[in-house]
Amino acid sequence: MTKPSPETVCFNKKARTYDSSAIPQKEAIDWVQGRISRIDLSAQILELGAGTGNWTRIWLKKGFKNYTVSDVNPAMIEVSKSKLQSNRVEYQVLDAWKENSEDEVQKYDVITSTNLLQWAPYFSPKKVFPFHSNLRSAGLSIHCIPIAPTLYEFYEWIPEIQPFSWKTADEWKSLFEADGFSILDLEQKKNTYKYVNLQSVLRSIHNTGATLKNKTLNLRPFIKKFNHPLHVTWNFLWIVARKSGSFERS
Ligand SMILES: C[S@@+](CC[C@H](N)C(=O)[O-])C[C@H]1O[C@@H](n2cnc3c(N)ncnc32)[C@H](O)[C@@H]1O
Repeated sequence: MTKPSPETVCFNKKARTYDSSAIPQKEAIDWVQGRISRIDLSAQILELGAGTGNWTRIWLKKGFKNYTVSDVNPAMIEVSKSKLQSNRVEYQVLDAWKENSEDEVQKYDVITSTNLLQWAPYFSPKKVFPFHSNLRSAGLSIHCIPIAPTLYEFYEWIPEIQPFSWKTADEWKSLFEADGFSILDLEQKKNTYKYVNLQSVLRSIHNTGATLKNKTLNLRPFIKKFNHPLHVTWNFLWIVARKSGSFERS
């Protein structure tokens, strides 16, 4: 079984609080759910970092029959199983950043994820996303990713914390192109969310399993200073990219 890496283990602990705090992430899924179209219902689909199943549910509702749900954290998979109660999906504990075994290679027509790729480590320029070797020729890579300037307010409130290093839409586009993909769709949507104070912003991030860098920093003075209503920005990218090569399935 794949073991979660230390930086993803927080998600395992937050499997039960993720849904109630991941409001921007869930609204991003609402935004993109109507965009899955013109894909054969018999396509072999792999979802990476599926978490509690919010994106999985959309695909199953549309009637896709060959769906593999994966996540590196078993606790997330357990929550998804109990929420979806579906016998149409296969579950796998899978680390999205690891090279695949030979029997996995070129098995899928579609690989998809939401709110996952922002955690991707640096990959070699020759193989940008290792999971793309799982896709058949002309297969689709479909993702919804938080991008810059998400949570940029933190740079003003607590410059000592760099919450995340978000990429821009252009940077993601270049990474997919470097992996030999052509971009079929690229859209962005920005929203702001209101919180009663900084503490509630921090709590909501923490409850989704994400961790803020600079753990040694004492946050109390900042929490005291920003004890009033605040807005935070989330910006999401919808990207659909096709692997080069001709379609093997109709
Ligand atoms: C922010 S949650 C998103 C969950 C779900 N896709 C959604 O949009 O609601 C990120 C998920 O990615 C999983 N994850 C983190 N690192 C991963 C990795 N290396 N491989 C696979 N899944 C990973 C976490 O366990 C967590 O379930």
